Amino acid sequence: MKIAILGAGNVGTALARRLSVAGHDIMLGFGRDPDAVVAAAAAAGVAHGSPQELAAFGEVIAIAVPWGAVGDALAALGPVGGKIIWDCTNPLAPDLSGLLLGGETSGGEEIARLLPGAHVVKGVPPFAELMHADDPAIDGEAPGLFVAGDDAEAKAIVAGLLSQLPANVVDAGPLMAARFIEPALLLVVRLAYLNGMGPRIALSVQTESSAA
Ligand SMILES: NC(=O)c1ccc[n+]([C@@H]2O[C@H](COP(=O)([O-])OP(=O)(O)OC[C@H]3O[C@@H](n4cnc5c(N)ncnc54)[C@H](OP(=O)(O)O)[C@@H]3O)[C@@H](O)[C@H]2O)c1
Repeated sequence: MKIAILGAGNVGTALARRLSVAGHDIMLGFGRDPDAVVAAAAAAGVAHGSPQELAAFGEVIAIAVPWGAVGDALAALGPVGGKIIWDCTNPLAPDLSGLLLGGETSGGEEIARLLPGAHVVKGVPPFAELMHADDPAIDGEAPGLFVAGDDAEAKAIVAGLLSQLPANVVDAGPLMAARFIEPALLLVVRLAYLNGMGPRIALSVQTESSAA
């Protein structure tokens, strides 16, 4: 698939590397320092482009910028009706004390509100440290992740991409389930960075084998 990635930081470059190895065509872009974007794309061995080029190129457009940059990133993209938008963000307060929004909405739903007609899927990838590592599994198991979205086909496509990172993906339902995914992942971020567990962790949902 053609995958455009907004944000050439820890997550954007990890997605670029892993998904290009999996056989996808990747274009990376968007940052305050254009030279850094070009260098990051070259280091990952993928193309780079302007926001307009990313919007035209991507069958799937991944949003991998800090929450505070999402508004600018989406405005730079322009109209993307009909495209699949892969929301990789978590609207974390910079000090990890909470989420910048939530309860009756979510980052995923706010992105959908800003991109009318696009098929937004919440699909926060594993910690960048895991994706950049030689071994992206945890004790041999792919990290557990969640997807949420209102378009079944778009959600299946993003779930498939996540599984190639690799990840063990659980379908959490409609996009409004991002309200529950985002705080759950805040817990994991706090465990990793404030409680000393480090980033080789993820959530897993245990089920009876007959219920899988
Ligand atoms: N790190 C993880 O393990 C992880 C895992 C899952 C999800 N996430 C989520 O993924 C998103 C990206 O995280 P990241 O760790 O990749 O961040 P990061 O390493 O800081 O990279 C952020 C990217 O966004 C660009 N950017 C554009 N406008 C920006 C602005 N106004 N302020 C800051 N950066 C701007 C940065 O480029 P310039 O600096 O050149 O502007 C950079 O390419 C976040 O929403 C985060 O919650 C992170």
